[in-house]
Amino acid sequence: MLPNQWYVILETGQIRRGKTLGVTRFGEKLVAWRDEQGRVAVVHDQCPHRGAALSAGRVVSNCVECPFHGFQFDATGCGRVIPANGRSAPVPKVFHTAAFPTREAHGFIWVWTGEDDHRLPPIPFFDDIDSSFSYFSATSHWPVDYTRAIENQLDVVHLPFVHKTTIGRGNATLVDGPYATLQDDRLSIWVSNRVDDGTLPRKHTEMPRPDRKPLLTFVFPNIWQNRLSDDLRIVLAFVPVDDNNCVLYLRQYQRVVRVPVVRDVFNWFSKLGNNVILNQDRRVVITQRPVKSYAGMDEHLIQGDRPIILYRARCKELLEIKPM
Ligand code: FES
Ligand SMILES: [Fe+2]
Repeated sequence: MLPNQWYVILETGQIRRGKTLGVTRFGEKLVAWRDEQGRVAVVHDQCPHRGAALSAGRVVSNCVECPFHGFQFDATGCGRVIPANGRSAPVPKVFHTAAFPTREAHGFIWVWTGEDDHRLPPIPFFDDIDSSFSYFSATSHWPVDYTRAIENQLDVVHLPFVHKTTIGRGNATLVDGPYATLQDDRLSIWVSNRVDDGTLPRKHTEMPRPDRKPLLTFVFPNIWQNRLSDDLRIVLAFVPVDDNNCVLYLRQYQRVVRVPVVRDVFNWFSKLGNNVILNQDRRVVITQRPVKSYAGMDEHLIQGDRPIILYRARCKELLEIKPM
């Protein structure tokens, strides 16, 4: 987990009003709940009294109530009520469970992996996706660290092999560049693969900046967009579960088809296609060892792996930056 980042951890529809949800994220058991006003909170799923899972409890007003002895904790993880001591007794500070600053935006639940601070940066997203788009979602579990799943979507070299029957048709095995830039924790990638004609691939530095929008954009720490066209996009959120598992939330955003029934049919076929492509990736990525990637690991990257090199280098920097 990178410090001081807004991570997508859930889809908004997974938490219902007045309900708790126990999930594992970042290798920790967490409880999320939505209070009666609709606000979402995320804290560690362990009661500081005697260790029961808060997720087995219930939501009372804006707190989660432990199922064992009824202690209540608010969205900042502070104990508010110890019933056995009486409602008017003050609650000692030790009755506290660690909490994440939490936001809800773009249909996702985001948590901040750093200290709570009133100057937290805005939620990162894609400026070119607005309310004119509709989307559907799909979920996929991958038994690898989320870094492997991310790198797979930055990998332009794999297209004619993993996806030779789908998006990688045409035997464009030679990789020019790719031209890729990293700015403000946005990694932009232009794909220029071609059929091998015996010439050597061009280096990134030999290529002019493309005058079109990047096909792929990854925004740290865990969202990615494939800009299929102005009106059709695939977005992935790579959600860390633990060192050996992650969950991918896939969305297709579109504003091609707006009539509801036609849109449902379009989405149904799109879902099928997206599943085939994502499973082509998953089949190979889950065989990668080690299951987690990092800068300086024992792999031998090539020129075409430039986006992965940039990703690993930036992860290393972010891990080394002092906490805010
Ligand atoms: S274990 Fe949670 S209130 Fe006692
Ligand atoms: Fe792929």
